[in-house]
Amino acid sequence: MDSNRDVLDTHQLLEDEDSQLRPQLFDEYIGQQDLKDNLRVFVGAAKMRDESLDHVLLYGPPGLGKTTMSMIIANEMGTHLKTTTGPSIEKTGDLVAILTALEPGDVLFIDEIHRLNKVIEEILYPAMEDFCVDVVIGKEASTRSVRIDLPPFTLVGATTRAGDLSAPLRDRFGIVSKLEYYSDEDLGKIIERTSRVYQMEMEQEAVLELAKRSRGTPRIANRLFRRVRDFAQYNNDDIITSHRTEEALTKLKVDHLGLDDVDHKYLLGIIHRFQGGPVGVEALAASIGEEPMTLEDVYEPYLLQKGLIKRTPRGRIVTDLVYQHFGINRES
Ligand SMILES: Nc1ncnc2c1ncn2[C@@H]1O[C@H](COP(=O)(O)OP(=O)(O)O)[C@@H](O)[C@H]1O
Ligand SMILES: [Mg+2]
Repeated sequence: MDSNRDVLDTHQLLEDEDSQLRPQLFDEYIGQQDLKDNLRVFVGAAKMRDESLDHVLLYGPPGLGKTTMSMIIANEMGTHLKTTTGPSIEKTGDLVAILTALEPGDVLFIDEIHRLNKVIEEILYPAMEDFCVDVVIGKEASTRSVRIDLPPFTLVGATTRAGDLSAPLRDRFGIVSKLEYYSDEDLGKIIERTSRVYQMEMEQEAVLELAKRSRGTPRIANRLFRRVRDFAQYNNDDIITSHRTEEALTKLKVDHLGLDDVDHKYLLGIIHRFQGGPVGVEALAASIGEEPMTLEDVYEPYLLQKGLIKRTPRGRIVTDLVYQHFGINRES
């Protein structure tokens, strides 16, 4: 098994679903202060008016807490959450069935909403705007369109690619929020919480070390925590020390910036095969055996944020920081 791959795997492993770790309320959700402050107001106001919350679009890289936030919204509203994903809705009938089964005030969460197909998306427009759907019934010459009323509900959409959403769909969300990478400090708090939940103590220095290497991403922090805990328990440590953390992360090939194998292949690939760039993402992806979409959605946002790469009209380039990080001389 390649343990490095699972660090950034966007597929939800069972581990991620660990419901013990998912915060249930705004107060338990660490960081994303602006998002939280705003949603508190919108949720509170909707409840005072006894209305459903306006539709919410959450976007940002994987693992930052979009699914978790949708659960919290339903919890805080005191309603039920129904969950589905863009690619799993294949026929218009599928979506109509989901919508007509909603109860007043329900939160419908559509993950990967950018992957809804166009025809299905169009069902959503009147559903979101006027709480109704138009369905065609009857056969051949005698078909007619019937309007079905829906209960008021809240659609929460999540996507890693807000840019791929059509304008008409995006415009129908009253609340649009981007999730940001977490600061080391906030990640530290998340790791401390995880350590409490799992009842495995961790030295303060170890918490900081793990936070720094978690790519600003709670899912990665939790996953690395579990691996570090494995190393500690295997060695009969009764507390996770910074020494053990360092050792485990080195073995997992997660470096001091939190970069893993794929990041290394990506950055060194640009330097060695494309003279530092610019190189198009397709060519780069092919040369390192990854999907362009995975690079764009999962890897590049963090590299961009850390100032390690730049996007130019002619392609990606690495910055001086990368040469420094790997101790490579630039001029050659
Ligand atoms: N703000 C947060 N505070 C504490 N834990 C969080 C937070 N955001 C995410 N997590 C943890 O990270 C995991 C991944 O979050 P998730 O909501 O599934 O991310 P996304 O849907 O954006 O990919 C969750 O299981 C949860 O345990
Ligand atoms: Mg999710």
